[in-house]
Amino acid sequence: MTKLALHQHGPTTGIPLVLLHGFPLDSRMWDAVVADLKDLPVLTVDGPGCGASPLPEGAPSLDTYADLLVASLDAAGHHRVVLAGLSMGGYAAMAVAERHPGILAGIGLLDTKAAVDPDEARHNRLAMADAAAEQGSAVVAGMINTMLGPTSHDSRPGVVEQMRQWLAEAPPAAIAWAQRAMAARPDRHAALRALEIPSLVLRGDEDDMSPHEAAASMVDALGEHAVFVEVPQAGHMTSNENPAAVVDALRDLHRRATAN
Ligand code: MLT
Repeated sequence: MTKLALHQHGPTTGIPLVLLHGFPLDSRMWDAVVADLKDLPVLTVDGPGCGASPLPEGAPSLDTYADLLVASLDAAGHHRVVLAGLSMGGYAAMAVAERHPGILAGIGLLDTKAAVDPDEARHNRLAMADAAAEQGSAVVAGMINTMLGPTSHDSRPGVVEQMRQWLAEAPPAAIAWAQRAMAARPDRHAALRALEIPSLVLRGDEDDMSPHEAAASMVDALGEHAVFVEVPQAGHMTSNENPAAVVDALRDLHRRATAN
């Protein structure tokens, strides 16, 4: 069976914090965050077709991503985890919440949303999936304008350059797989309502891709278990634009989820 690549950081015992990256990146997206979590057991994951992970067979689906992730964690001896995902990583984390809630000690949903896309957004995803076969990673180059907030564009040239480089390296087959999977994803509010575990909802205050209302509806679904954090001076890529704030929020989530 296909397995996803898991990258271990920090201590090898204890309930790990598992981090799922956004589209169209790979586990390197978390480098700045992981650098400040050296005392926690952390696993970063390469999503389907990204980094060191192969592309699965069959129709692209976040449910497939979730099943593969849980099987890969299981094979590595991790039967209970604190799972956090940014954007597409959040969609995958919510698929895990729906299909494998028993593995979750806690969940973090960063710069993401539980609702389905409007028709136009779905259509645009499928058009990009088709175009990636011919144009390669050039189809995602323009995302640099929307992924990062104005503060980063104005004053963090290193972050902008790093992101530009990662976009240029995105594998075309993974771009197409991810867009088709995201276009097909269902609404996950019911799965969040069914959870009774410590949770985190986080967004950058300059994130136009995951608006405040999307975060508020996830907080509402998670109820009393949710902590909401709005990260200042960050757009969609909070993990790279303001990693210190993301580190604090993830550390607090892991502490709450492993307290007993
Ligand atoms: C991401 O960062 O993973 C993407 O913005 C997700 C999406 O396209 O909805």
